[in-house]
Amino acid sequence: MSDDRLPRVAVLISGRGSNLQALIDAVARGSLKARLALVVSNKANAAGLARAREAGVETIVISPHDYPERAAFDRALVEALQLHRIELVCLAGFMRLLGREFCEAFPNRVLNIHPSLLPAFPGVDAQRLALEHGVKVSGATVHFVTPELDAGPIVQQVAVTVREDDTVSSLAARILDVEHVIYPAAVQRILHEPWRIEGRRVSFAAPRTS
Ligand code: GRF
Repeated sequence: MSDDRLPRVAVLISGRGSNLQALIDAVARGSLKARLALVVSNKANAAGLARAREAGVETIVISPHDYPERAAFDRALVEALQLHRIELVCLAGFMRLLGREFCEAFPNRVLNIHPSLLPAFPGVDAQRLALEHGVKVSGATVHFVTPELDAGPIVQQVAVTVREDDTVSSLAARILDVEHVIYPAAVQRILHEPWRIEGRRVSFAAPRTS
């Protein structure tokens, strides 16, 4: 598939951008057939911006401070994404809740990666909360984004065993390794395999005919 016929993907970040890097690397390897057309950060100093520039991906910063209310910030995001003809939006450590208007502009076209086995431990500090709760298994989840925090239909999950000697950072590091594998794989499937959502269930199997 020539580069300009590949599905156009945007990645939204707020910080480090290691999941963005995993997506960049998967595209470079050819295991993710997509064109990373835009990286948007809500923070000018996000380290992930440099990763995008290094890979030749266009970047923009849209700061909530420039918009009086959340809806206006969301609209600015939507405009930028539409201007770049984005077909799929991947949140990768994007620390802003997106409103209904945003989600409606990209119905079932926004994915997120979260460092726990949702619906357990949504929101920030998921790895610490999992450890403190004493769960024996945590993991990573790729899900569709809805206006409720970390609550959309689940696309893919992989479990990570919690070890007796784990600290927050050792557990987070093992979960992050898994994130870097499942996010590009899930994006590839959503872009190139048939899938459907029934209720909350995302399924990749072809619909039953009988
Ligand atoms: C990851 O743990 C991701 O699951 C969560 O935020 C973190 C972002 O890390 N949503 P990075 O910026 O991709 O390195």
